[in-house]
Amino acid sequence: MQDPTVQFKYAGELVTARPGDTLLSALWAAGKGESMQAGCGGGVCGACTVSVRFADGRPGGTDLGCMRLVEEGMEVFPCPVEPAPAKTPASGPAPETLRASYPTLDRCTQCRSCTAACPMTIPVMDSVLRMQRGEWQAVAEDFTTCIHCGLCRMVCEDKVQPHNMGLWVRRSLALAEEEIPPVAADVEAREWDWLLAGDSGERLRRAEVFRREGRVPA
Ligand code: SF4
Ligand code: SF4
Ligand code: FES
Repeated sequence: MQDPTVQFKYAGELVTARPGDTLLSALWAAGKGESMQAGCGGGVCGACTVSVRFADGRPGGTDLGCMRLVEEGMEVFPCPVEPAPAKTPASGPAPETLRASYPTLDRCTQCRSCTAACPMTIPVMDSVLRMQRGEWQAVAEDFTTCIHCGLCRMVCEDKVQPHNMGLWVRRSLALAEEEIPPVAADVEAREWDWLLAGDSGERLRRAEVFRREGRVPA
């Protein structure tokens, strides 16, 4: 018996795939891999942005080609997002410095398109409003899972650049954190000796202790 197949269109071309394939793996298997930008292949780098239309009329929206599974009759459009250069962070975010770097902050019309476009389900629009109110810690948490695919920026008619601002806030908070004193050479050598002792399981355990405590046991 013949294996079941799924057919979808990518940039207007018919592609035959196996059920359960992602769009990216289906294109690879069909010898069309170069037609989709890709990096990690696992939903981390944000390179494989697409928009989707389903055969039954369901709205498909934007997504990542390496995460979205193929469906019969779907139409997929490559949606490459141009990179936007990051602005230099300030040491500690402040409303005036954020607005100086991103004067578009107050142009948000609360259309929610950015939130709908985000493949990581980040509450992008709410976070833009938090930026306007200077709620920096909450903004930093909102963007923890941002992969900088740029889809929120691409769909924003008002050119607000939400994820660039989110990254700016996170970097500015990090710059303001207390400076970490340099580790003395003898302490560093002792830490490495301790971390690399034992078999792989023991090393993993020691790495977990070090990450939790921030130091090796005395
Ligand atoms: S897409 Fe732009 S204007 Fe719309 S809610 Fe998001 S940031 Fe605001
Ligand atoms: S916040 Fe924007 S850039 Fe970040 S993952 Fe969501 S859509 Fe992509
Ligand atoms: S290839 Fe990296 S997110 Fe899809």
